[in-house]
Amino acid sequence: MNPPSIDTSLLTAVATLMTPRLRLEPLGPSHIDGAMEGISDPETLRLTGTRRTFSRDDVLRHLTSLADRDDRADWAIIDLATERYVGEVVLNELEPDDAAMNFRIALNPGWMGRGYGTEAARAVLDHAFDDLGVHRVGLDVFAFNPRAERSYEKAGFRHEGRQRDTLFWDGEWVDSILMAALSTDERPAL
Ligand SMILES: CC(C)(COP(=O)(O)OP(=O)(O)OC[C@H]1O[C@@H](n2cnc3c(N)ncnc32)[C@H](O)[C@@H]1OP(=O)(O)O)[C@@H](O)C(=O)NCCC(=O)NCCS
Repeated sequence: MNPPSIDTSLLTAVATLMTPRLRLEPLGPSHIDGAMEGISDPETLRLTGTRRTFSRDDVLRHLTSLADRDDRADWAIIDLATERYVGEVVLNELEPDDAAMNFRIALNPGWMGRGYGTEAARAVLDHAFDDLGVHRVGLDVFAFNPRAERSYEKAGFRHEGRQRDTLFWDGEWVDSILMAALSTDERPAL
């Protein structure tokens, strides 16, 4: 078998991806207002296990830095009908020798439960496998987030295991559920 090969030019110049209802465009400083809304929401912080708070300058610095990265791809999810910012979706933690990346997504409040997250995740997985040459996309999701777990299943991620007590939140230990999708897995039916 030939060793895997990642097309890192598609990480340096992140492609815009289209789905029936969404445009996934390279995330950058122009998305600061939408990004700030997401990381200011207490429920999103809980679901992503985020304890740190970020100033507008912190976020702007992060968004600006993304253009120089060749080990990750970050997209702003835009609703085609309204041109509004829906959230962000990320492939990061590139392991080039193993053709592996990590997946992360967060929609802003008000956009959840309408299939947008699953639609975005499918587009990113298709791009990872078909265009970037990634073989494995992994993720972890806290056990108190069954909506995310279900969305990931629908997008094609499979369960691989469980790490116990990875997060201490609101006085309780929470497990992490490990999931991944492989390029060789059957893609879910639309
Ligand atoms: C996780 C996330 C991206 C999913 O996207 P989404 O658009 O909300 O999800 P979808 O609408 O595509 O699918 C949600 C599914 O979960 C199901 N669901 C919702 N609440 C549920 C619950 N409490 N238990 C089980 N399933 C649940 C829905 O019924 C739906 O499944 P179905 O289509 O089979 O009915 C989005 O909710 C989000 O960004 N949440 C906040 C941040 C977050 O949790 N990020 C992930 C961190 S790992």
